[in-house]
Amino acid sequence: MNSLIEAKNTIESKLNGAKPTIGLILGSGLGVLAEEITSPTVIKYQDIPGFPSSTVAGHKGQLVIGELEGKTVVAMQGRFHFYEGYDMSLVTLPVRVMKAIGVEKLIVTNAAGGINENFEAGNLMLIKDHINQFGTNPLIGKNDDSQGVRFPDMSNAYSRELLDLAESAAEEQNVTVQKGVYVGTTGPSYETPAEVRMLRKMGGDAVGMSTVPEVIVARHSEIEVLGISCISNMAAGILDQPLTHDEVMETTELVKQDFLTLVKSIIKK
Ligand code: 6GU
Repeated sequence: MNSLIEAKNTIESKLNGAKPTIGLILGSGLGVLAEEITSPTVIKYQDIPGFPSSTVAGHKGQLVIGELEGKTVVAMQGRFHFYEGYDMSLVTLPVRVMKAIGVEKLIVTNAAGGINENFEAGNLMLIKDHINQFGTNPLIGKNDDSQGVRFPDMSNAYSRELLDLAESAAEEQNVTVQKGVYVGTTGPSYETPAEVRMLRKMGGDAVGMSTVPEVIVARHSEIEVLGISCISNMAAGILDQPLTHDEVMETTELVKQDFLTLVKSIIKK
């Protein structure tokens, strides 16, 4: 927890008293949203104590703090993935830091593969709930009671209120959205077709390699969560084509405008 206090102090020393209350975690190809933030303070992860420097293509590796739709926000342009070899406490450290600097609501975004056969690449999906397939949990270990309870309730992991708000924002902006259950896996290999059939039977609608750890820690810290997946491709075995990270990046480029419109309208509300 030492690095938590050091990270908090480093960030706050650059903010001149600005207090972000909304946090944004921007997934693969979705970092463009941070470019809409005005009067930005940009802090590279390498300049924050305890933060690793992110490595995935399409992930920038910096915090952008400033104004968006009249609110003070802190955006992560690039996140830390478990598959990069970081342990769960590092993957979720940014959420602890957000809490420490005053964040009350978190919008988590990601690129994900579609499991639900009614979805198509380019859809946006509001996350109703998740299934943790990481085989571990970021809260394993001694509980820090100052951060949250030992056994956090996950029955309202994705805030009903924020989900309703996001749906009405989408309607107002004429942006079509799906709703569904996000399955989080470790990656980095994509699933086999048999695994995708299993995840569908379990109740999954989309699958990705992030978000679940951050949301567990956000709920532990009593941060309200809204999750949005960009369905960048269909999961294995649905279409007769191989999966590539290039496709993920190409599709997020195509939905960029809808994504920006939707998230900005949600923040305004
Ligand atoms: Cl198909 N699977 C996983 N685990 N993550 C993804 C994906 C699929 N497509 C984008 N991200």
